[in-house]
Amino acid sequence: MTLSAALAALTTQAHIDAKTPIVAKFEYEADRLGQQSLSIAGLYVDVSKQSWSQAGFDAALGLFDIAGLNAAREKMWTGQAINVSEDRAVLHVALRDSDSENQRLRGAEIAADVKGARDAMKAYADGIRAGEIVGATGKPFRTIIHIGIGGSDLGPRLLWQALAPLKPQIDIRFVANVDGSELALATADLDPAETLVIAVSKTFTTQETLTNFLVARDWIIGALGEDAAAKHLAAVSAAPAKTSAYGIPEDRVFGFRDWVGGRYSLWSAVSLSVIIAGGYDVYERLLSGAHEMDQHFLTAPAVQNAPLLLAAAQIFNRIALDRPARAVIPYAHRLRRLAAFLQQLEMESNGKRTDGYGNLLPTKTCPIVFGDEGTNAQHAFFQMLHQSADIVPLELIAVTSNPEAPLDMQQKLLSNVIAQGEAFMVGKSLETSEVECRALGFDDAKTAIIAPQKVCPGNKPSTLVLLDALTPETLGALLALYEHKTFAEGIVMGLNSFDQWGVELGKTLATSVLKDITGPDIAPHDPSTTAAIEIVK
Ligand code: F6P
Repeated sequence: MTLSAALAALTTQAHIDAKTPIVAKFEYEADRLGQQSLSIAGLYVDVSKQSWSQAGFDAALGLFDIAGLNAAREKMWTGQAINVSEDRAVLHVALRDSDSENQRLRGAEIAADVKGARDAMKAYADGIRAGEIVGATGKPFRTIIHIGIGGSDLGPRLLWQALAPLKPQIDIRFVANVDGSELALATADLDPAETLVIAVSKTFTTQETLTNFLVARDWIIGALGEDAAAKHLAAVSAAPAKTSAYGIPEDRVFGFRDWVGGRYSLWSAVSLSVIIAGGYDVYERLLSGAHEMDQHFLTAPAVQNAPLLLAAAQIFNRIALDRPARAVIPYAHRLRRLAAFLQQLEMESNGKRTDGYGNLLPTKTCPIVFGDEGTNAQHAFFQMLHQSADIVPLELIAVTSNPEAPLDMQQKLLSNVIAQGEAFMVGKSLETSEVECRALGFDDAKTAIIAPQKVCPGNKPSTLVLLDALTPETLGALLALYEHKTFAEGIVMGLNSFDQWGVELGKTLATSVLKDITGPDIAPHDPSTTAAIEIVK
């Protein structure tokens, strides 16, 4: 069967499936839960509350074979240039893979490169943590200002929020926005003598990062003098030669290769600040959790493959049923930036309308990914998810044991996440609402008005992901799970998940608008744009 025929068959099946309540499917599908849930690398994944029947589930999972996922995976793992539009390999998995056979297939150079980068980071991080590498005045570093944006920010920021000790020996402040306030807030109460500034940029051309870095460097120079600054500056980049113009000593520049995509770069030196502040072993544990997920993705059959279960659910919802959004709700304050991380991972990877050769794609691609931490989100936008006519599939993510929280708090949190999955699926009928109204003493007239407003139609799909505990290993596995999900979806959609041409237009126009704002004249624009420039000037 061709992929387009398989997608058409899935669409037909999905429309049939969507007519039956999800909860009813548990009654007539023997072992639905057993078929549609699994445990791997400290994660439990349950997709049985999706809208599909067993036939829809099988059809969605069957797509990967038809789309050639096996061959694509092989090409990725062995370092072929699957990012065709940029003619680059995609090898973030190599950063967490010590398998000698895989290393041999990719070539000794890559393995040596990965090892060299790791050794350099370890030596630097250990030296700082031991107080052997210190600032210009001899004081040890107590804070790192991590300056980066997009993939050079979201991953490490998420890692640190998730894994930072309650009282870290060295803390990290992240600065991404070029609005000036983020940097001002980050530095306001810091002593430059105890602060290390790390500029993180794959290209080392990103306007926001370079601007923030120069202002931060001036803050150091203003306090400690020009000569002292070098001891307080470091950089991470895949274009190390470009860093020399910024006064960063060569031995403080940590590299990675262009085969690590920006949004897949948290496994590289991009996480240097976390490696310093958290310790090198945290990084190794993160890599090992991700590697376990990599092996699972490579070897598990599709119907028991966690990334493919999530990818299949998304294809079913987005392509077959045209559901345009997906909510990601981590029930963990420490994972509060997960939705932001996934927005870049999924929307920058798969939010496209052409394939890697410029042909228009036949289907919709990435949904809008949004979300916030639970339970907070329940008190904000869940109303819409429960009662509007739109169906927004959810991913409910929680950690089942948290040493930071008293048992009572954990139980309350977890009862919420479980109850929400049930509520979205089961809903509340008119009959139940009427009974509730009568119990409140409403007469018939009032019941007729209020009861329909209390109805929750239910039949709203959700996926549950439970982490045993929030550790470097489970976090690594979780993030690798989403990376592979995104990759597999891209294969079925027929697009290149590893370029991002769409972000260029705004960057180019910002450069010309900046000229208009700072120069004497304004170039021709539409009236609305010209008016905004004039107001700013
Ligand atoms: O503008 C998008 C983007 O190119 C992302 O893909 C990337 O993660 C981010 O900018 C930052 O880029 P860099 O690491 O090169 O500064």
